[in-house]
Amino acid sequence: MTEVDHVARNQELWNNQAPEYVAPGERAWVSEPSWGIFAVPERELSMLPNDLRSLRTLELGCGTAYVSAWMARRGATATGIDLSPRQLETARRLQQLHQLPFELVNGNCEELPFADEQFDFAISEYGAAIWCRPERWLREAFRVVKPGGALHFLGCSPWVHVCSPVSGELPLVERLEHSYFDQYRNDWGPQGVEFNLPVSAWFRLFREIGWQVVDYLEPRPAAPSAERRHYATFDWAYRYPAEQVWKLARPR
Ligand SMILES: C[S@@+](CC[C@H](N)C(=O)[O-])C[C@H]1O[C@@H](n2cnc3c(N)ncnc32)[C@H](O)[C@@H]1O
Repeated sequence: MTEVDHVARNQELWNNQAPEYVAPGERAWVSEPSWGIFAVPERELSMLPNDLRSLRTLELGCGTAYVSAWMARRGATATGIDLSPRQLETARRLQQLHQLPFELVNGNCEELPFADEQFDFAISEYGAAIWCRPERWLREAFRVVKPGGALHFLGCSPWVHVCSPVSGELPLVERLEHSYFDQYRNDWGPQGVEFNLPVSAWFRLFREIGWQVVDYLEPRPAAPSAERRHYATFDWAYRYPAEQVWKLARPR
């Protein structure tokens, strides 16, 4: 396997998974913004700028592009980019259904096909945030965001790798199964390749690239329960951080 085989594998994964994301995408297009696998409301996380009018926005790994739809409806000139043509097919169909056109691009967030300093605001929810090499996509995002612009992203907490059972059988367990410090490339076999870092390494990377950290959040579900969402139960995520949000600024 080559160093970059994750891109081809993740593209195949997401083309195959696209049918399962049609119904959630349809619901999200008509919902109020909420975030992550536990649908934490926007009022708790403030993932979107207060005023999107006149902003040019970029969603990195947009999937069915419901985040871009939320931003376009609030006045942004939105662009979404995604590796999977099949995910973008759903996004395009929903654009037509809701008569909400915005730019959709098929491409890889590790090599963005955009000129420098084009966007006021970039965002990723479980897109580039987890599926791309951090040192690549964060440099690319920095390049295309204007000085004075911002990047917000949400993905798995570094705790997710640590508490993923060695057997591969999710959901997360209340045991330390993997090294916290050594995490980087998390290969889930047929479930693709994700990336994550210890918190201190995220900080170092942001500093090297030039991003300024504005905030770090650990979204928490409203209440515990045995119900499972993707890789974790509400019980687990109520006790430990399953997700992280980074809010970054490109200094002027
Ligand atoms: C979980 S979806 C994110 C969209 C949406 N927020 C959601 O949670 O359903 C992950 C998306 O990331 C995309 N993706 C994975 N690797 C990518 C890459 N290198 N460049 C662009 N998009 C990528 C996949 O094609 C997929 O549509």
